[in-house]
Amino acid sequence: MRKQIVAGNWKMNKDFVDSEILVAKLLSQHKHAQTQVIIAPPFTNLLAATNALKGSSIDVAAQNMHFAKQGAYTGEISADMLSSVGVKTVILGHSERRAYFNETDELLAQKVNAALENKMRVIFCFGEELSDRKSGQQNDVVAAQIQKALFHLSPDAWSNIILAYEPVWAIGTGETASPEQAQDMHAFIRQTIANQYNAQLANSISILYGGSVKSSNAKDIFSKPDVDGGLIGGASLDAEHFYAIVNSF
Ligand code: PGA
Repeated sequence: MRKQIVAGNWKMNKDFVDSEILVAKLLSQHKHAQTQVIIAPPFTNLLAATNALKGSSIDVAAQNMHFAKQGAYTGEISADMLSSVGVKTVILGHSERRAYFNETDELLAQKVNAALENKMRVIFCFGEELSDRKSGQQNDVVAAQIQKALFHLSPDAWSNIILAYEPVWAIGTGETASPEQAQDMHAFIRQTIANQYNAQLANSISILYGGSVKSSNAKDIFSKPDVDGGLIGGASLDAEHFYAIVNSF
């Protein structure tokens, strides 16, 4: 069985104190959760979060990292540095990184390699723009993103990959893909992986949906057979709302 996962991407929100408060609230909500829960606070809050969550089943992820081991990369953070504060998962390829920081699939392939070499798990994000969908190109765009960033990996490496399909037009816009649109794309993604590798591997990969997921729409989206959970932005900043989503399977 594939893992059901709900991950909260806090983006550039929550200072140190607010982060501690939110982590404490999440912990109090978490007692009965069946689903794998991951939170991704900003870099400055990662150590406090991993310390506070030690012994719980909530995992902490970084929102980005550099591909180099170390060196003259002012302002950047390496996989080693993340590991040293107890972070074992990293989000790579978020559409905001692609759009505002010019991250390409080629660069992301290097980041994916660096994370896997450091035994980290990757939540790899990708998705089409509105113009792609309007012109019916969404499947081609998504297939190319996955192929360029991930298809060099050995089959074994995929045990540390979680996919997050996030149509750019649905992120932070209040506009969600319909459950059917999400299912169609997730099934296409799984088939694309099966064609490149095999069906068994494709069926073992958790594919999350992201883009304006809320407690009011999570149940319908998560009920689809190829949707294995969600990557949640805005709604992950409130503990009760986030856990209403976590408990939507
Ligand atoms: P949103 O963000 O839930 O606020 O739309 C999702 C994401 O960017 O991961």
